[in-house]
Amino acid sequence: MTAFRADVTIGSIGRRGDGVAAVAGGTVHIPATAPGDRATVALTETGPGRFRGRLLDLLEAGPDRREPPCRHFGACGGCALQHLTPEAYGAWKIDMLPDLLARNGLDVATIEPLHRSPPGSRRRATFAIRRRREDAIVGFNERHSHRVVDLRACPVVLPQIAALIPALRGWAETALQAGDRADAHVAMTDSGLDLLIRTSARLGGAGRDALVALLAREDLARAARAHPKQEGAEVLAEARPVRAVHGGVPVALAPGAFAQATADGEAALTGFVLEAAEGAARAADLFCGSGAFALPLAKRGCAVYAADIDRAAIANLGMAARQAGLPALRTEARNLMRRPVPAGDLAGADFAVFDPPRAGAKDQAVEIAASRVPVVVAVSCDPGSFMRDARILTGGGYRLTRLQPVDQFIWSAHLELAARFDFAG
Ligand SMILES: C[S@@+](CC[C@H](N)C(=O)[O-])C[C@H]1O[C@@H](n2cnc3c(N)ncnc32)[C@H](O)[C@@H]1O
Repeated sequence: MTAFRADVTIGSIGRRGDGVAAVAGGTVHIPATAPGDRATVALTETGPGRFRGRLLDLLEAGPDRREPPCRHFGACGGCALQHLTPEAYGAWKIDMLPDLLARNGLDVATIEPLHRSPPGSRRRATFAIRRRREDAIVGFNERHSHRVVDLRACPVVLPQIAALIPALRGWAETALQAGDRADAHVAMTDSGLDLLIRTSARLGGAGRDALVALLAREDLARAARAHPKQEGAEVLAEARPVRAVHGGVPVALAPGAFAQATADGEAALTGFVLEAAEGAARAADLFCGSGAFALPLAKRGCAVYAADIDRAAIANLGMAARQAGLPALRTEARNLMRRPVPAGDLAGADFAVFDPPRAGAKDQAVEIAASRVPVVVAVSCDPGSFMRDARILTGGGYRLTRLQPVDQFIWSAHLELAARFDFAG
């Protein structure tokens, strides 16, 4: 690897959110730069014609650049694009879509305007905790590194979550020993804040007592701990039952349960699903989690089959449906990657939604493609795996008719998509 300096002009922003410039013999990706920036950068050759760059000096700012709102921007790996004006940032998120669709041979009649979750609305975060000899640090990893940025502020998460950071630091200084590591998963639920500490460190009586005291002092709904290599969690204290409410139906949440990243993002996705399912009498919700789509569909009178690998989420969803008097909501704990629901079992439905993790749902998409269910919605947090699954559906006779981009991950390069497919024969 050779390193050298060069003066470059940034031409565009790449898929990972880094500025891209031409250099002799190739291109370089430089974090925290914007189109039109002229900058001196340090370049490291990572392969033939491939360079990684580090901004050394901004010689002239491009028209899309602004002052980043967070003092940790640049060091913290949580955000990549705070230095763009809101207009340029929104345009970058959505402008990648036509090109991605074209490269995958996909056509769409309508791309809806980007739904934008505002700053300070992220309702879940996982903070890394490092206990040092004298103190503890709490924050997010630096980009491509295990070093943790000691956060003093975070404009991305809900203010109540940001306000918990000093309390977590204090807890770690009491409860952990020098060299110990932990993750703190914090989620805002309909019952208040839910805290799950994941660590292999031994938490003695003092560590547990400190967590219970933190719950009382910070008015948390629940505090639990888990071991990174073991399933399940131990609830150490619960001030009130922890619930989400989907379609007006309360559903219990296990510690660390999945939730969409923002409440308004979830509302946008649910709205899209419900509109596409208009008039459906029988539906399937695959990768259903705690039932963000299944419960509102069932509440509407639709018979719903809902499946997910998470046994606790499925048990809680089943219980919620029984308590709400929704017997037509049928649940199954199922590994849909290993055992996708076969096309024949889906064929009786007139609507299906699937919302898999980042890797997508290749095998399940193959079954859906063969099922001829008239309307299908795919929800995805990864445009790359979405395009692959979409190609499988269109290869089976579906048309991609509507695409809704949702920016639940503000200032990151991530983008959530909801897409409607109609069976065209
Ligand atoms: C993006 S979340 C969607 C959850 C839900 N639709 C919602 O909006 O809250 C993905 C879900 O896929 C589930 N999952 C992950 N791997 C799975 C697998 N192999 N089989 C079935 N479900 C899986 C997770 O438990 C999680 O609930």
